[in-house]
Amino acid sequence: MKKLVIYYSLEGNTRFVAQNIADAIGGEILELKPKESIPQKGVMKYLLGGKKVLFKEKPALISLDKDPNEYDVIFIGTPVWASSYAPYFNTLLSSIELKNKKIGLFCCYRGSAGKTFAHLEKQLEGNHIVGKMEFKEPIKVEENKSKIREWANSIIERISVH
Ligand SMILES: Cc1cc2nc3c(=O)[nH]c(=O)nc-3n(C[C@H](O)[C@H](O)[C@H](O)COP(=O)(O)O)c2cc1C
Repeated sequence: MKKLVIYYSLEGNTRFVAQNIADAIGGEILELKPKESIPQKGVMKYLLGGKKVLFKEKPALISLDKDPNEYDVIFIGTPVWASSYAPYFNTLLSSIELKNKKIGLFCCYRGSAGKTFAHLEKQLEGNHIVGKMEFKEPIKVEENKSKIREWANSIIERISVH
């Protein structure tokens, strides 16, 4: 069973979760890297990021170094932006077609995850969503490491039994 963790992260939270999942399940990592990044600090990040979500933009990405279609189980992780997923997944999912994959979703948020999973699941129709987990600013709390690892392992165990 080949496992991949795909994520985008602006400020490190989603990266932290992605790395812990990959470590726990022995998976590979594919980070979505925008060609043009937005600032990590200040209010501009909210304006620029929010606008991209609102207008359903597909910001250009640096070419992917892995093909998600070569994997059986895929974890997809995004920060919550404007109550949805980061727009870089629009770019990804319009450039590759994922079908019949087992997919675990995770997101990192500050206040509320909003409609992040609902919107992402719509983009991933035709796949099997095998688990979902929200993390509130996970990087700040060390105990989150075990929560992340247990969640990821429980998904893999469940898939392996069926
Ligand atoms: C453009 C932008 C929009 C955001 N919108 C929301 C939101 O709607 N709800 C929320 O709870 N957090 C929101 N946040 C906060 C992030 O989801 C949160 O800080 C998350 O942990 C960041 O993940 P990262 O460190 O992987 O980038 C937003 C952050 C940015 C930059």
